Amino acid sequence: MYLQRRNRILRSSSAIRSLIAETILTSNDFIAPLFIVEGENQREEISSMSNYFRMSTDVTVKEVKELWGIGIKSILLFVKSKDELKDNKGTEALNPDGLMQRSIKAIKDACPEMIIMTDVALDPFSSYGHDGIVENGEIVNDATVEVLAKMSVSHAQAGADFVAPSDMMDGRIGAIRKALEENNFTKTGIMAYSAKYASCFYGPFRDALDSAPGFGDKKTYQMDYSNRIEAIREAVMDVEEGADIVMVKPALSYLDVIREVKDAVDVPVSCYNISGEYAMIKAASKMGWIDEEKAILETLTSMKRSGADLIATYFAKDAVRLINH
Ligand code: PBG
Repeated sequence: MYLQRRNRILRSSSAIRSLIAETILTSNDFIAPLFIVEGENQREEISSMSNYFRMSTDVTVKEVKELWGIGIKSILLFVKSKDELKDNKGTEALNPDGLMQRSIKAIKDACPEMIIMTDVALDPFSSYGHDGIVENGEIVNDATVEVLAKMSVSHAQAGADFVAPSDMMDGRIGAIRKALEENNFTKTGIMAYSAKYASCFYGPFRDALDSAPGFGDKKTYQMDYSNRIEAIREAVMDVEEGADIVMVKPALSYLDVIREVKDAVDVPVSCYNISGEYAMIKAASKMGWIDEEKAILETLTSMKRSGADLIATYFAKDAVRLINH
């Protein structure tokens, strides 16, 4: 056999494979999500997210220092609000002395260089577990956007570097940008969850924050997973409205969408390797059915290869350990 081209040449040893690898993960690729609870010295494992924890602010601060120490440059904060503080309008979300605001300050004091991103949506504060205000069984858009803009200003006031609206209301990026400008927060970034799909894979996250919707689902605001072009429209509009980074979420079932959004916009694209994706790898590896470490690197690399400049992932710490050894 005489062949003109032998593609296996470039696969023949680990050295040559490393030399020509197109996609290489580094600690700069990751955003580490963190779940914060009230109290002191609290570190509770989330039942559906094995080896992932809800931590009180003091423990979170230690964790953030450790993350910074291994080269992770950004965190994404979520808080678990107490039931008695929840209402329809998410009033607690605006409390300048709320758990989120206190935690942002504590982390900034302890680790000023860490990029703090904060989740902006009403679900952890909503008595209905929805991302917006409920009226007559519907999630109302414009009134919700007003609260989200105030919430963003409140996070910026506490010291957040980026606000990350995850609610999928229309017009919220423009409203948030305007509110930040009006309040002189000209250095606060917006990472927009632009193409966020209504996904069954958010289940473990809702356990973590006890934030499952009390009625119905989120399909009137989160996107239908059948759609692709709509994701581009959402991302392009968010950039026009002032988003600094746009996100596609979830990641694994949406790699095509990540690529298309990446090709359509001129800002960095992030993706969210969400709780259900984490839980699947954890569960299958616990059963001995897949190799956890290999699965982590393969899936994260696929997200970067598909076009993600940044990946929010519960595997951030593991990935850095695996890359470095
Ligand atoms: C809430 C929010 C959700 C996630 C991030 N922000 C859940 C939801 O929309 O129901 C999911 C993250 C994950 O599953 O890891 N606005």
